Amino acid sequence: MKKQLITTKDGSKTIHFPEWNESYHSQHGAIKEALHVYIQSGLEFRIKDAFPPHLSILEMGFGTGLNAYLSYKFSKTYNLDLRYTGIEKYPIQEEMLKQLNYVPPEDQGFFNALHHSTWEQFNQISSLFKLKKLNLDLDVFQTQDKYDVIYFDAFGPRVQPHLWHKTILQNMYDILNPHGVWVTYCCKGSVRRDLLEIGFQVEKITGPPGKREMLRAIKIL
Ligand SMILES: C[S@@+](CC[C@H](N)C(=O)[O-])C[C@H]1O[C@@H](n2cnc3c(N)ncnc32)[C@H](O)[C@@H]1O
Repeated sequence: MKKQLITTKDGSKTIHFPEWNESYHSQHGAIKEALHVYIQSGLEFRIKDAFPPHLSILEMGFGTGLNAYLSYKFSKTYNLDLRYTGIEKYPIQEEMLKQLNYVPPEDQGFFNALHHSTWEQFNQISSLFKLKKLNLDLDVFQTQDKYDVIYFDAFGPRVQPHLWHKTILQNMYDILNPHGVWVTYCCKGSVRRDLLEIGFQVEKITGPPGKREMLRAIKIL
C-alpha cells in the first residue's frame, strides 16, 4: 500500500496511507498526541500514586519508535527503570526513518539505537531503558511476561477491526499486572463495552488535540 510522509500541525511528521485515509499519528500533532495519550494518560498516570522502581511497558505497534523515545525521556526525568516491549508486524524502512523529525541532535544516537537494536531479545539501550522488539502479528502474541502499562496504538477499528476484537483485549487484560493501565487514543463505544465486560475499570478521558475523548482502562486486581 502507498505510504506518504506528512507534516502534522505541531510540525512533527507522520506516515499516512492515502487509500485508508489513516495515519500513524493524529494530523493535529504527532508528538502532541503521543505525549497526551501515552506518556501523560498512561505512563505518568500509572506512577502518580505509587512509584515503582521498575516498570514494564508493552506497545502495540512499535512503528516510528516515537512512544518509546518519549518514554525514555520521561524515564530520565523521573529516574525510572523501564523495560519496554514493542510489537511490530511491519517494521519501518530505513529511508522513511531518516526523514522523521522527532528528536534533537543529541538524542539521534538513542533514536537510531531503538531502530537498529536486535529483534526478539532485550537490549540495554541506555542505563534506564531496556528494549525488546517483537516482529510479529498481534493476533499471535502470547507471553508469560506481565506489564504495568500497555500503549494500544493499533490503526483504528475502522481499518483493522480484528485488532480490537474482544479476545485481543482479554489477552491485554491477562498480561497486565494489578493496577496496570491500558491506554489508547480510540474512544469507540463497542471497545469500551468489551473492556468493561472483561473486567477493566474504564474511563473516558479528554483526548489529544482534535479528539474530544479517549479510553483508559485499569486492571484493579
Ligand atoms: C497507528 S500506527 C502506530 C505506530 C507507533 N505507535 C508510532 O508511534 O509510530 C500502528 C502500528 O501497528 C503496526 N501494525 C499493524 N498491524 C499490525 C499487526 N497485526 N500486528 C502488529 N503490528 C501491526 C503498524 O505497522 C504500525 O506501526
